[in-house]
Amino acid sequence: MITIIGAGRVGSAAAFNILRYRISDVVLIDIFEDLAKGEALDMMQTAPALEFDGKIIGTSDYSQMKGSELVIITAGEARKPGMSRLDLMRKNAGIVRSIVREVVKYAPNCKIMMVTNPVDVMTYIAYKESGFERNRVFGMGNILDTLRFRSYIALELGVSREDIRALVIGEHGDSMVPLAEYASVAGIPIMRLLSKEQIEKIINLTITSGAEVIRLKGSTVHAPAAAIAIMADAILRGRNRVMGVSTYLQGEYGFYDVAIGVPVVLGRNGVERILELELLPETRKRLEKSVEVVKKAISELEAS
Ligand code: 2OP
Repeated sequence: MITIIGAGRVGSAAAFNILRYRISDVVLIDIFEDLAKGEALDMMQTAPALEFDGKIIGTSDYSQMKGSELVIITAGEARKPGMSRLDLMRKNAGIVRSIVREVVKYAPNCKIMMVTNPVDVMTYIAYKESGFERNRVFGMGNILDTLRFRSYIALELGVSREDIRALVIGEHGDSMVPLAEYASVAGIPIMRLLSKEQIEKIINLTITSGAEVIRLKGSTVHAPAAAIAIMADAILRGRNRVMGVSTYLQGEYGFYDVAIGVPVVLGRNGVERILELELLPETRKRLEKSVEVVKKAISELEAS
């Protein structure tokens, strides 16, 4: 069973994907009980059309998460006009800490997937607050960045998106690190098919396209919800899929005491292992800068 905390647009769209792809039953929890109940009812009524049988419960009662294998935290605020990044972090850190305490109480054996932004900082907070082993607390961000990276590579080459394999690591934010040197089209390195300028253009689009969606429609919904479902499927079905996941590092890539996106094998136990790749010197520099950004945010938060 999966619990999703936060029945906002991303949380409920993720619940729907998890049900329709028959990944798991879902408990959808929100402090606004009517919202959670309404979403659950709406999804239940969709089931005969899409032919899924998974159970969906909408509630504000945290104890309903008992027995969950995976708890996905999407609750929190989005940045509002006039709100600083630090204000948002402080607010969401408070929300995340209190939710994590409920998770520890009712689902002590679960894995926690953090979605609330800034996701790397919130993953760090959840890891520290939960006291769980680090493989059980991780953040969704890079897989979403990777979906964008793949989309723009496909667009530039005029080929099927399905044939693009790629990885994005680092912060889920402006300092993210799309790994052009490890991106391929059906196994053909993209560096053989695209110029440096084309690759730079794709990287820039990958970094800025989430903000562009937010500018156009207020928030990103479908892509994050799909990314959550990909991770949920890897975990619930023990598929050992390889993707970028925000993970607490203990020396991997030379970094300590930070949660940031690295390539991992994601399976039944959450982060089954971290894959340490050799990086081009330029990419390595980008990753170091990205770690600095997240560490600075964590220390700002801890000092506030
Ligand atoms: C996204 O990148 C806002 O993190 C969210 O779509």
